[in-house]
Amino acid sequence: MSTLTIFSSVPARAAEATPVAPSRPIPAVLGADLEVPVKGGRLVGYANLDYAASAPCLEPVSAAVTAALPAYSSVHRGAGYASQLTTARYEQARHTVRAFVGARPDDAVIFTRNTTDATNLLARCLPAGTTTVVFDTEHHASLLPWPKSVRLAPPAFPGEAVRAADEALAGIDGPKLLVVTAASNVTGELWPIAALAHVAHRHGARILVDAAQLVPHRRLNLTALDLDYVAFSGHKLYAPFGAGALVGRRDWLAEGEPYLKGGGAVRFVGDDTEWHDDPEPRHEAGTPNVLGAIALAAACDALTATGWTALVREEERLIARLRSGLASIEGVRELSLWGDDHPRVGIVSFTVDGYSAREVAEVLSSEYGIGVRDGKFCAHPFVRHLLGEPERRSSAGESGANGGRSGRDHKHAGGCEDGTASAVRASIGIGSTQEHVDRLVEAVRDLVNR
Ligand SMILES: Cc1ncc(COP(=O)(O)O)c(C=O)c1O
Repeated sequence: MSTLTIFSSVPARAAEATPVAPSRPIPAVLGADLEVPVKGGRLVGYANLDYAASAPCLEPVSAAVTAALPAYSSVHRGAGYASQLTTARYEQARHTVRAFVGARPDDAVIFTRNTTDATNLLARCLPAGTTTVVFDTEHHASLLPWPKSVRLAPPAFPGEAVRAADEALAGIDGPKLLVVTAASNVTGELWPIAALAHVAHRHGARILVDAAQLVPHRRLNLTALDLDYVAFSGHKLYAPFGAGALVGRRDWLAEGEPYLKGGGAVRFVGDDTEWHDDPEPRHEAGTPNVLGAIALAAACDALTATGWTALVREEERLIARLRSGLASIEGVRELSLWGDDHPRVGIVSFTVDGYSAREVAEVLSSEYGIGVRDGKFCAHPFVRHLLGEPERRSSAGESGANGGRSGRDHKHAGGCEDGTASAVRASIGIGSTQEHVDRLVEAVRDLVNR
């Protein structure tokens, strides 16, 4: 297998499969001029470096939602003109999403709330007895939903991921599913999804790719990569209106228990209930999130119209600057599974000697107007591995992470943290600027020199 095939999430043949759209200027995001208070009462321009959690809204997305609102009406149910128009917009959004991920014409596109909802939906539709193979490096959304799973240790290099999946799948009888994230939400590193899809199919397994962190940064072509399912979230794709999607093969979805039971999912209700066997209505009972779907489609259209070359070039310039800036500061360590040179999207996680991640994030916010994420990013086993912590460590009452001075690593209700040592994550995307990146690097340098 060539190096290119292993490392590239979108191989050359994927790029060839879709005609290249004419490129337009990179669109603006809402909130680019947001000012926030810092210590002393001053206002500074907000440096949003937390795109991997939720990205800001693209202007064309906001415009599409605003344009759809005056005619907003019921979907799939009304005879009125506004209902028909809204239904047409909702179904058009489905086509746009299908094209955006390069899906096969007969793939299902089910609108969900987010990636977590999409992986859980697929988990409920697995044929009886399906074994899922999943790496410990996954986000909890892709790690936890499976009724029966085999967990694989973080692989030391990409070829090892392929080898471990190969071995695990070979040892499983019955239906099997390999689940893998295309781009890590912790390190940004790209996974060899083409090679993993190949291995999965060789063993009669299917593959689900968690594309939550890939689709905001790179083109994905499900058909060319021969993937069975992909899942992603609108709020990470500049469309924060509460929709995500599960796209992929229809048969399991057509047979799985309807995700929600209610209006829209049924063809006939009487002594016997007849459920739709079309996956979309079957799993989208109730009034769907039309505006979320329209927003998601508008984001897909805006990124496609801009063209990936321009987007990737700008992101790579900024992320290289950020990484080399952080690397120049003594006591700062970037988290990485596969080394400095492995291709990645615009995400960098790091630790700072002598400070807990929470302390760093708080100083960045309160003194410099910078927003980053700190914690384990809902990928506890992976971050524990990267931090060199023993597995299955108790979460109770531990503090002083990374030699933190105050030992105030956080734990908050509804969050995703376990109160143990953690990391800081900076992530970028459309609207990120060189000034934001430089401000972060200089702030961390100042902190270390205090
Ligand atoms: C790789 C990955 N998968 C899944 C998720 C879950 O996404 P959501 O919270 O939108 O369901 C995230 C969110 O951070 C993620 O980064």
